Amino acid sequence: MTQRHTTLGRFPTTRLRRNRRTGWSRRLVAETRLSVDDLIWPVFVQEGRGTRTPVASMPGVDRLSIDLLVEAAKEARDLGIPALAIFPETDPKAKTPDAREAYNPGNLVCRAVSAVKNAVPDLGVMTDVALDPFNSDGHDGIVRDGYVQNDETLDALIKQAVVQTEAGADIQAPSDMMDGRIGAIRRALDDKGHVHQQIMSYAAKYASALYNPFRDAIGSSGALQTLNSVRDKKTYQMDVANSDEALREVGFDIEEGADMVMVKPGLPYLDVVRRVKDRFGVPTYAYQVSGEYAMLRGAADRGWLDWNKVLLETLLSFRRAGCDGILTYGAVDAARLLTAKR
Ligand code: PBG
Repeated sequence: MTQRHTTLGRFPTTRLRRNRRTGWSRRLVAETRLSVDDLIWPVFVQEGRGTRTPVASMPGVDRLSIDLLVEAAKEARDLGIPALAIFPETDPKAKTPDAREAYNPGNLVCRAVSAVKNAVPDLGVMTDVALDPFNSDGHDGIVRDGYVQNDETLDALIKQAVVQTEAGADIQAPSDMMDGRIGAIRRALDDKGHVHQQIMSYAAKYASALYNPFRDAIGSSGALQTLNSVRDKKTYQMDVANSDEALREVGFDIEEGADMVMVKPGLPYLDVVRRVKDRFGVPTYAYQVSGEYAMLRGAADRGWLDWNKVLLETLLSFRRAGCDGILTYGAVDAARLLTAKR
């Protein structure tokens, strides 16, 4: 196979630059396309009315109060973006070691979901299933005896997935990396009759240093630094060194009932995306995470990179690697560029 490819054509009879010479020809031979249909827009919500707070480590990204989030959701719908992923900044006073605010049906994320779905019913809404926005330890699970507990955390995640579903969310996205969570959540949803609720599993999520700006945005960075806390997420998120293990994670989650799977972070992990897509052929997504956004935007704001170009180049690269869609903080900018006349 490889042999044949290397002997397929010879210079000067073959000139690979021929097909690249004109714009129309480059369009004609393009193997991959990026469209607004491929985008999921992650957004941050805060308490209040008419307020927005810039996230310092994510230039151009603001946390929005629910009323402004609804306006943003309308804009996303008008641009043709299929779905939002909503993340809450929880009042520190509501955070406890058992993270019970996660399954309070009146919590900020549930109120935000209902408001968005009421105003813009045809826009998909996805919510995270993980305890970190609600946990005084800043972890995705319940910390006891210096360890993030697995099975005890599942009980809380189930309740969280149910309240978020009942608030009107369309997709539950477990991002906590506990073992067995997809099956537990699927069973709980089905038992309550929510058989159409979709699950996008953060199946291969790595213990990456690229999430810090996100933790600033939802206010979990401080909590992670508390004295009684384990300070990193390496006992549950995956080791950056591994990719065979990613296939095991994805395989488990599909068997447990995941409708879609995700690899996270994005750009440095496209090898994992390719392996997942080739092996399983299921709807596969990647998350261009906060640290990736900060790198590109930070450089662009200094005039070192062209934001529009690097944004579209990176998103197209996700598609080339096998992604069916991408979660990106640049979704609105990308949608505007993609819908603008060529
Ligand atoms: C937490 C969660 C994280 C992100 C999405 N859900 C952070 C973490 O695992 O610490 C990261 C998103 C980003 O960095 O943009 N459950």
